[in-house]
Amino acid sequence: MKKIIIAIDGPAGAGKSTIAKKVAAALGYAYIDTGAMYRTVTLCYLRSGKPFSESLVTEEADHLDLSFAYRDGVNRVFLGGEEVTEAIRSLEVSRSVSAVSAVGGVRRAMVALQRRIGAAGGVVMDGRDIGTVVFPQAELKIFLTASVEERARRRCLELQQKGQAVDLEDLKKRIAERDHLDETRAISPLRCAEDAVFLDSTSLSIAEVTSRIIALAERKGACGTNL
Ligand code: DC
Repeated sequence: MKKIIIAIDGPAGAGKSTIAKKVAAALGYAYIDTGAMYRTVTLCYLRSGKPFSESLVTEEADHLDLSFAYRDGVNRVFLGGEEVTEAIRSLEVSRSVSAVSAVGGVRRAMVALQRRIGAAGGVVMDGRDIGTVVFPQAELKIFLTASVEERARRRCLELQQKGQAVDLEDLKKRIAERDHLDETRAISPLRCAEDAVFLDSTSLSIAEVTSRIIALAERKGACGTNL
């Protein structure tokens, strides 16, 4: 059975993680959330209490004791023995992660880790630079996007379901700002690889996007165990 690498890149809030998890489950593949890796480095830096510097965050990335475990239907993230699944989604981490992930030393360490994890194939990896930098040889590359309005609307619903008060206009502004930072940074900016399949999910359901990607994976020779 062929175990391919599926790279899913795209901007914040396009639904990458939701879709990537479903594709991975259908194919019996591992799901790797690379955003969680940059978030964990950011958490370490914030906890250090020290002022931001490239050498400090690179040091944190080089010594990151990170692991993933899938338990009770949740992809859990561990820093040493501590579960940080929730902590890496905090507002503070979200605010600082763009600056941390723009540092060359941090990216070098994370890309090396991602290549080790995905080397044997049978993975669905989502992020910003998986198809362009981490695995330019990936058999299947997807660039998943949606309009800023739709991404803000989805995020708004998600936060409301968690009981948090949100302002849609503020969310739109923050999403547009993060897109700008991710697209214009000097190292590995967010862009669609030339050989990626461009998927705009603005008016597509999760099920539609998932089944399109699974069909594309099958055409590349992937053979699902759980289809
Ligand atoms: O997907 P996310 O929102 O959890 O990602 C958090 C941040 O990490 C985001 O601002 C961009 C950055 N990131 C990156 O630079 N490269 C990746 N492969 C994944 C995420």
